[in-house]
Amino acid sequence: MIKRLHHIGIAVKTLDEGAATWKDIGLEEEGREDVVPAATRISMFPVGETRIELLEPMGEDTPVAKFLSSRGPGIHHLCFEVDDIEAESARLQAAGMRLLYDAPRPGAHGSRVQFLHPRDTGGVLIELNEFPAAPE
Ligand code: CO
Repeated sequence: MIKRLHHIGIAVKTLDEGAATWKDIGLEEEGREDVVPAATRISMFPVGETRIELLEPMGEDTPVAKFLSSRGPGIHHLCFEVDDIEAESARLQAAGMRLLYDAPRPGAHGSRVQFLHPRDTGGVLIELNEFPAAPE
């Protein structure tokens, strides 16, 4: 089940440059994190039930660096929080959408992530994110 739009990912050249823009818009930065499996540094700006996620590439030969060089800074992906990432991945794959990873990978804040191929989703890169159950 898809629970909510968790965040909108935006590719930026640097977190400092991107954060300045979003602070000017009026959002507050929650924190930064290195997501090594995705080769990105991220910064989160909560807004209501969702967040703006800034993505800075960790190196030249990374997916976000390639996105920036071909398209420039801007909206990179939408992320839906799901309750069961294996079940949702299987359901969407059965509906004809390709997955980018063979199995979910570690993401920010202890989550596990998968992506749907944008050619199968009308040109929108979609991230699926399952978070660990909240402590009792
Ligand atoms: Co994301």
